[in-house]
Amino acid sequence: MNKRVQSPESTVQSGIRTNLNTVGLAIVILLMSSLACGDVEKVTVTVQADKPGAKISPTMWGVFFEDINFAADGGVYAELVKNRSFEFPNPMMGWSKIPSGSTLGMIEILDRNPFIDANPHYLRIKADGKDFGVSNEGLRGMGIRAGDKYVFSAQVRAVQGQPALRIVLVGSDERKLAEAKLDGFTKQWKKYSATLCAAATESKARLNIYVEGPSGIDIDMVSLFPEKTWKNRPNGLRADLVQMIADLKPGFIKFPGGFLTEGRRLDNRYQWKATIGDLAERKLMINAFNEFRPRPTPDYFQSYGLGFFEYFQLCEDLGAEPQPVLNCGMAAQFSGQMAPLDQLEPYIQDALDLIEFANGPATSPWGKKRAEMGHPQPFDLKTIRVGNEQVGPHYIERYEQFARVLKAKHPEIKLIAGVGPEPDDDRFKFAWGKLRELKAAIVDEHAHKQPGWFFGNAARFDRYDRKGPKVMTGEYAAHSEPGLINPNNRSNLECALSEAAFMTGLERNADIVVMSCYAPLFAHVDAWQWTPDLIWFDNLNAYGTPSYYVQQMFSCNGGDVVLPVSLQVPEPHTQRLYISAVCDNMTSEIIIKAVNPTKNPIETQINLSRARVASPAKAIILTSPKLTDENSLEAPKNIFPVEGMIQNVSAPFNYSFRPYSFTVLRLSTESTQARRAARIDPMVALRYE
Ligand code: AHR
Repeated sequence: MNKRVQSPESTVQSGIRTNLNTVGLAIVILLMSSLACGDVEKVTVTVQADKPGAKISPTMWGVFFEDINFAADGGVYAELVKNRSFEFPNPMMGWSKIPSGSTLGMIEILDRNPFIDANPHYLRIKADGKDFGVSNEGLRGMGIRAGDKYVFSAQVRAVQGQPALRIVLVGSDERKLAEAKLDGFTKQWKKYSATLCAAATESKARLNIYVEGPSGIDIDMVSLFPEKTWKNRPNGLRADLVQMIADLKPGFIKFPGGFLTEGRRLDNRYQWKATIGDLAERKLMINAFNEFRPRPTPDYFQSYGLGFFEYFQLCEDLGAEPQPVLNCGMAAQFSGQMAPLDQLEPYIQDALDLIEFANGPATSPWGKKRAEMGHPQPFDLKTIRVGNEQVGPHYIERYEQFARVLKAKHPEIKLIAGVGPEPDDDRFKFAWGKLRELKAAIVDEHAHKQPGWFFGNAARFDRYDRKGPKVMTGEYAAHSEPGLINPNNRSNLECALSEAAFMTGLERNADIVVMSCYAPLFAHVDAWQWTPDLIWFDNLNAYGTPSYYVQQMFSCNGGDVVLPVSLQVPEPHTQRLYISAVCDNMTSEIIIKAVNPTKNPIETQINLSRARVASPAKAIILTSPKLTDENSLEAPKNIFPVEGMIQNVSAPFNYSFRPYSFTVLRLSTESTQARRAARIDPMVALRYE
């Protein structure tokens, strides 16, 4: 039977791709045939292990954290109290009088003589008896674990009598989970705290605060934190959710948005300076997703407890580069609101000050603030994303002004520019053209599309200009349903496989693609606005979607150098295989990633040029019987990467890629074995015959 040789890498190395047809067919072998199952002739995969290509950027696989779907407040930020500072527009949102309708006391919101001017509202509670107080419902309830400790704290002053507080954690059935007492209050505001130990586990607990009367108090900044947070930090992050990010081994963390950075209006944009320093002084802001159709969330606000300091600290903890996104002087494009060009200075100054906050000496004005927050050493900021999904000449003009000032003052900082919300419309083409002329360093493309788009774009970057800006795919996710914001989207296996196919294209083109991240990262099962998402959680547990495991399989098997790979396919064609290959310099392993999205196995013969491979090899496989299969809180590992060893591997060898699968093959070479045996240090070159 005839075979067709397809060798995309030869054109990658020769520069700009022009022959779209040839190249488009090169990796995606998607064709028609009538060969019966069993008759299928093998696809020949040739990995040119002796011709290492481009280096893969350490930032290739990252994450994008945006406070959407309760990702920060109610999610990663471990505070359990909703509206702790009574600064929501409805200051009692999240709070209720207990017992409801009781006349045994009174509650009122006041703003005279607050404990701090920046946080003016507080609650006054006057009680006649023992069982009067207020209850906080948490952010869709509070997740409490048996045996764990919880730290209650509040600013309190006595206004009548000699008040005492009884703090009680209760379950959804009013069962008492923990209790503590506080007293000794004076007429001066002061912070008090108590530790509660939970007797039972409950995902929808509430916090009750009783004032033992007759007496009265003023109370503010009412907080309840698990003692066990990420790295056990006070004001910390939810450890299990951070662990989910850590397990992705992200090369960078993009933050804080998205649409959140733009804001519905400019006064609602994300402003990093409001998110640092004393917690009580971080001015609350409505979350731009609060009114998001089709799932408005009226109680969605940003406390900024997870602000820019905590973000930089998280990047440092995870060994990920920070990648802040800053407003470019334009609100979300639909608002039409933008700062005039001659009034952009405060926006650009925000960028300069952020660089100083991150990297400046502790003696500089903004570096001093970082040092005062406990981090005198710099955070090593290297890139900034200017704007989000703004488009047209207005965006380009604003980007130009940012670039002019920042390049002059901080040539060490790389700027990332955007090309809009779509990966192929006229706005995209316009912006790409302009940014190429402006010699932008990195251009960030977004793609929220159906699986067909991702399969169809697996060879997209094969044909990109090698001399232009580098590329980031800074928001992508396969949507199972049509339309951008469809609440019926499911994160199923098909979506994950299509993303994996697309990602083989990112990896093969690592000479120009330097960063990528899925979006959005998190969603609370009871408080989401957008689907699909990478990680879903409730107040106690979390699970990764199949897309999560695809991200993890790429990131944890990232390698250092691209290896050219080509396919020889039988004619007529029967199969679709999406493939990439890399070399891991630390272990001298050859790593092959392949997606078979079809219902039949794909039989291959794998040639590795002259590399000598040694048994056993490792196969990591993500698969499930149906493309519509998913994970859930109840079955979090329904679709999960399974590892197995392959014996008797020698090049060439036969391998059958399973139906509906994404596979990572890790092939040891003789150098790997020598390194293992002699404990030789990394960077041993591959040995060839
Ligand atoms: O990822 C969710 C949203 O999609 C982002 O906030 C926005 O940038 C994009 O349109």
